[in-house]
Amino acid sequence: MIDAMGRLWRIIKPIRHRLFMGLMVTIAASVVGLMIPQVLGVLVNNLETSPTVATVWFAGGVIVALGLLEAVLMWLRRVFAVGPSTDIERKMRVRFYTWILDMPVAFHNDWGSGQLLSRAQQDVTQIRRWIAFGMIMMVSSAATIVVGLYMMSRSSVLLALIFMVIIFPIVVLTYRFQRDYSVFTRRSQDLNGEISTTVEQSVQGIRVLKAFGRSKQALANFDDDAVALRDNEIRKATTLARFDMFMLALPESMLGLSLLLGLLQVNSGAMNVGQLASFFATATLVVGPTRMVGMLFGQAVQTTTALERYFEVMDAENTIVSPTDPVTIDFDRATGELVMDEVRFRFHDAPEDAPDLFQGVNLHVRPGETMALVGVTGNGKSTLLQLVPRIFDITGGCITIDGVSVHDMDLDDLRRLTAFAFEDTTLFSFSVRDNVLLGVDPELPEEVRDDIAWEALHAADAGFVADLADGIDTHIGEQGFSLSGGQRQRIALARAIAARPALLLLDDPLSALDTKTEERVIAQLREVLDNTTTFIIAHRSSTVALADRVALLDHGKIAAVGTHQELLRTSSRYRYLMASPNQDVEVQS
Ligand SMILES: Nc1ncnc2c1ncn2[C@@H]1O[C@H](COP(=O)(O)OP(=O)(O)OP(=O)(O)O)[C@@H](O)[C@H]1O
Ligand SMILES: [Mg+2]
Repeated sequence: MIDAMGRLWRIIKPIRHRLFMGLMVTIAASVVGLMIPQVLGVLVNNLETSPTVATVWFAGGVIVALGLLEAVLMWLRRVFAVGPSTDIERKMRVRFYTWILDMPVAFHNDWGSGQLLSRAQQDVTQIRRWIAFGMIMMVSSAATIVVGLYMMSRSSVLLALIFMVIIFPIVVLTYRFQRDYSVFTRRSQDLNGEISTTVEQSVQGIRVLKAFGRSKQALANFDDDAVALRDNEIRKATTLARFDMFMLALPESMLGLSLLLGLLQVNSGAMNVGQLASFFATATLVVGPTRMVGMLFGQAVQTTTALERYFEVMDAENTIVSPTDPVTIDFDRATGELVMDEVRFRFHDAPEDAPDLFQGVNLHVRPGETMALVGVTGNGKSTLLQLVPRIFDITGGCITIDGVSVHDMDLDDLRRLTAFAFEDTTLFSFSVRDNVLLGVDPELPEEVRDDIAWEALHAADAGFVADLADGIDTHIGEQGFSLSGGQRQRIALARAIAARPALLLLDDPLSALDTKTEERVIAQLREVLDNTTTFIIAHRSSTVALADRVALLDHGKIAAVGTHQELLRTSSRYRYLMASPNQDVEVQS
């Protein structure tokens, strides 16, 4: 709690002067509002003793003026508090998204996207509301209550004391209501999020659901959530209704009781009618802030939770960061030569008794060479490739590119040196052009970028793009559904090529292509990527045959390196791995 408030202070520090002004005008508005009953009291007493039309006009005028002044001051509060606090909200959100984009993949594997989204949206909004409204209203409501009680005590100390006793349960009740109600509100938001996720996933996986005849099951899940949401909404409404009942009954009956006592006081001459009138006018003005204080206590608790949830993410440690003193990279001379030296790695969430995934991988991919990586499925090929651009960090040994450890490079430099085509093709719902140019300097002139895009598309044998409805500007549907698997793969491959890296990392990028197309793509790649070092994961001997050399990953180590022919001769393991696909190729051709 103290910690959260300390951090809240650091957040609002830049706008503290304006917030302070906001607070001052809000307090001023409350005091101005409280003066109205005083004028009323004087007016009533005047009417009793020497009623004149002029006094009524004068008092009425003063009351209207005070009312107007109060309105202007409240407007000023908005000017001072709302603008700067929405600015803070925006900054917090931008900082949050920048942060999670920076965080390593392992972090995203641990955190659900729904969790991150609700923290970035709902929690940040809650914090902004507290800064712009809650904090200021808390202080000004407290001030209204104190000043109001003082003014009421000038009418009658006894009545003021009774009033104090009344407002206490109001504060407690509103606080408890706010606390319970916020639990339901939060739950509603979460359920809404779950429902949208269910719909989103079902729509995304619509083909699988249909193919397996599971649409009904998906609907059942949806229905469960919808029922839970309805029940929650009903409980929310019931809580609100009960609270409303208390809140109407309690202050009104207490006001009635003090009116009775007040009349007795007037009767006995302890106070006059004017005092009674101003007492009541003040009392009605103070009841509002009393409820407000209770509600704001509840909001303070919620804001503390929101701050904790926000900072839980922001405090997560990012281990994959640039070194403080990175080595300068000469991109013009970079060859992409890759060396792995005794590389060890295990996933942070791997079971303790499991052996390391890599137990000393040694490998040398020479400058300009195309090296294929083979191994049985699930033995870590994709992971090994992802260690190079530091998508995961090695737990031992060293990886160097052109003799510089990847840990000594600025992350941006490292990722400019390398480009990756992933196993599962992720295309964004942008145009083909923007997908292909993702890794290309956006500052380059349009024609140059166009040339790069087309060259990469041709190298990836993706000439079909020209025949799409809008050519290279065709907008790819969500997840690239309007394209075939092989077409998507080739666009993703073009994206890696277009980045013109020194070291190209390809995770089985041709798996969806027939062997003839594959052959053509590799031949084109070799031409275009003449001096690009390429490290390519392959499952089929047709891909492997086109590489300069092949490395065999087996049981966490490189078991053999050599040309395809050499390995076929010397490694029984390699022969075993290549056996069936090889026969396939022979049967087909
Ligand atoms: N993020 C992760 N966290 C924990 N374990 C993982 C993670 N990603 C992969 N693994 C595990 O690491 C092992 C290697 O996975 P990897 O994807 O590298 O295999 P692969 O050789 O590329 O397989 P394939 O040939 O099928 O593509 C697998 O057992 C997998 O379950
Ligand atoms: Mg893989």
